Amino acid sequence: MHGKSNTLTGAMANEVFDAVRTVLAVREYQDKPIPKDVLQLIAEAGRLTASGSNKQPWHFVFVTDRQKLQELGRLVRTGPYTAQAAAAIVVGAERDNPLAVSDVSRAIQSMILAAWAEGVGSNWTGFTGHDDVRDLVGLPDSFNVIAVLPLGYPKRKLGKGLKNRKPANEVYSAEKFGNPL
Ligand SMILES: Cc1cc2nc3c(=O)[nH]c(=O)nc-3n(C[C@H](O)[C@H](O)[C@H](O)COP(=O)(O)O)c2cc1C
Repeated sequence: MHGKSNTLTGAMANEVFDAVRTVLAVREYQDKPIPKDVLQLIAEAGRLTASGSNKQPWHFVFVTDRQKLQELGRLVRTGPYTAQAAAAIVVGAERDNPLAVSDVSRAIQSMILAAWAEGVGSNWTGFTGHDDVRDLVGLPDSFNVIAVLPLGYPKRKLGKGLKNRKPANEVYSAEKFGNPL
């Protein structure tokens, strides 16, 4: 598997691995709402994520209002396409918790993968310092906005599993750096 393929030949079916293998950053969305129960499932994936000392130093604000989505697309310069998304999650991390960024990043991945398994594409946009976004959704000052995650059904068919990644031998080793696994 040294960089040639994203699949593990001979591996048993593994839906979690498959989601990791195929998920991609989705930046173009269909004009189609996401059902409430799907948004709820994505929220639960975030809520159920583990965190350091189980502190759960996060809050996720789900936005579907078109005007607010447009405002999010304007405020986060690296994610203007949020304006066309069906929904977005504003992800807040508690400022006074030194592990919050790690915890929240893990919750973000849970939500991205849960969304993907429902056919909903998403992406991570922005990174810290968005007090304007925090104020837009009324998060208390004690939170730092770590990301805005636009959500939507992908507009285009995505090449499932075709990823641009470093080859395996550059990324992991057995026992000692450089020994192939
Ligand atoms: C921490 C982090 C921050 C990111 N920030 C942005 C961003 O601001 N705007 C954007 O369009 N994509 C952003 N991305 C998406 C990455 O660029 C993308 O996942 C990466 O290029 C790999 O592409 P793929 O997910 O389609 O395989 C971010 C991803 C991560 C993990």
